[in-house]
Amino acid sequence: MIGRLNHVAIVVPDLKAASAVYRDTLGGKVSAPVDLPEHGVTTVFVELPNTKIELLHPLGAKSPIARFLEQNPSGGMHHVCYEVDDILAARDKLKAQGARVLGDGEPRTGAHNKPVLFLHPKDFCGTLVELEQA
Ligand code: CO
Repeated sequence: MIGRLNHVAIVVPDLKAASAVYRDTLGGKVSAPVDLPEHGVTTVFVELPNTKIELLHPLGAKSPIARFLEQNPSGGMHHVCYEVDDILAARDKLKAQGARVLGDGEPRTGAHNKPVLFLHPKDFCGTLVELEQA
């Protein structure tokens, strides 16, 4: 069911410093920051030949990643995103197998303007999983 690794998301305390690490130290292709107010995050994308790294920083008072940064002040890996062909079919299959879908279970529009869902980390080896319809 899962396809390509779309991105790995890393929460960072300082987007400028993190962008410099990925651009200057690692030599990556780094985008300008993009605010996504409806998701409560500012994102920077690092384009790699086979996938992307998404640097995330909280935006606004009710950011869903604010608590993560409190608990991980130096930042850390937040989620992995796998592509699926049909997100509703994937959701229904996973739910039938007992996996928990976060939120109301309905796909939302993600950072790449495609439908996404998040799966409970306890059901997936301690890792928050995002599914994105390819
Ligand atoms: Co993501």
